[in-house]
Amino acid sequence: MGAITLNAVEKWFADVQVIKGVDLAIHKGEFVVFVGPSGCGKSTLLRMIGGLEDISRGSLDIDGQDVTDQPPSKRGLSMVFQSYALYPHMSVRDNMGFSLKTAGAPKAEIDAKVNAAADTLKLDAYLDRRPKDLSGGQRQRVAIGRSIVRDPTAFLFDEPLSNLDAALRVEMRHEISKLHQTLDATMIYVTHDQVEAMTLADRIVVLDAGRIIQVGTPRALYNHPGNVFVAQFIGSPKMNVFPCTTDTGNYTVAGGRSGTCALSRPATQMGIRPEHITAGAAGSGQVDGTVDVVEFLGADTFVLFDCGAAGPLNVRISGDAALTVGDIHGLSFDRAHTHFFDADGVTVTDCALALRVARRQSTLAPTAKKPEGARAWHSLPSSPAPAFSHPSCPFQTPNWSRRSTPMPTATTPPMPTRLRRARSRPRRIPPKSSSSRRRVSNAVS
Ligand SMILES: Nc1ncnc2c1ncn2[C@@H]1O[C@H](COP(=O)(O)OP(=O)(O)O)[C@@H](O)[C@H]1O
Ligand SMILES: [Mg+2]
Repeated sequence: MGAITLNAVEKWFADVQVIKGVDLAIHKGEFVVFVGPSGCGKSTLLRMIGGLEDISRGSLDIDGQDVTDQPPSKRGLSMVFQSYALYPHMSVRDNMGFSLKTAGAPKAEIDAKVNAAADTLKLDAYLDRRPKDLSGGQRQRVAIGRSIVRDPTAFLFDEPLSNLDAALRVEMRHEISKLHQTLDATMIYVTHDQVEAMTLADRIVVLDAGRIIQVGTPRALYNHPGNVFVAQFIGSPKMNVFPCTTDTGNYTVAGGRSGTCALSRPATQMGIRPEHITAGAAGSGQVDGTVDVVEFLGADTFVLFDCGAAGPLNVRISGDAALTVGDIHGLSFDRAHTHFFDADGVTVTDCALALRVARRQSTLAPTAKKPEGARAWHSLPSSPAPAFSHPSCPFQTPNWSRRSTPMPTATTPPMPTRLRRARSRPRRIPPKSSSSRRRVSNAVS
């Protein structure tokens, strides 16, 4: 159990459209991460799945059942928020068992479930403490434990680690990953942090301005971004993007030199990640740059080169390599990792690279759907062939690349939800007063 399907889902706040027609199928047991810049609609979409926000248009299915108009308590989902929302006057044990107690579960069952969750989350020693006597990470574990005891169909996490310091965030990230392996439950996780997305997800859903921009495994999004937004959002530090001109078989970097390519159509920008550039002698490679800033990080050093018309280029070099500010170097781009974009920022496929990827994939026999019980889906070579639209190219344009073109969407707000419901079959209207909204939040958390 735990398959979730969103069908053309929209969210309007009065006449402002925040979610602009989202279609998404989440498989049972999958770990899906919604990632995107602040304000793009991640939390709203998650709250719509959890039932804390009405769905203005479209529908939501859980395990094949239409739950669009079901209240949160009927959806069997459990939500963990950034704010832990623990009851300060209750012990850890009582906080974790509270939802079962209010549901009238027998004490023996509550004790057994709380003890099992405490064991999974290593909270055994803290069961009799109050939340104020716990660290931030321990409090967040209690909030997760409170979800586990309810044995939900799926877990919904909204930026659960944002309040933690950097070291604790890494630790909790590992714990959530292990928890997913242990529970084998569907998890939907919202974050603006692409590192969390890359490390946790089976599949990442990149959102921007209320639309899905691209969906794929971390590996697919990193290697084959469908447009310049995804290219620069996924990967840290972000991909260098700069102007170029192209003709048949060649590209020329603005203010620099040429390299080979086999593009399906003209491109105006190219991109390359810091780890795919090599610094050599001045005059070598595709462009010369002057060392501007050197950031030593231990294992790696990042060097910001001023490349004139191509702009600043960030280059990763080995940690012990020393470059001096003011020196001029030639920068060579790894042919297998150059990306090209048209004037709209949509990826232009390099046919030679696409052919190589397709050959590799046919050798590796990719899996289109997560196999039952498989844990390391993200390690499977499931990335599709890159987008390609040239009539002579043997590759089909995959669905996700079409996403880079804005989807047509309704321009008028739908009928108010209450009116819509009144006109269709009788349905329960979710409570609207602030006190009843609190009850709804508690029911889902
Ligand atoms: N209750 C609301 N009324 C009006 N606008 C809202 C409401 N809740 C969220 N929004 C708007 O919806 C957009 C998406 O918000 P949100 O889903 O919280 O973004 P994210 O979680 O990606 O940062 C924002 O522009 C926000 O201002
Ligand atoms: Mg949010």
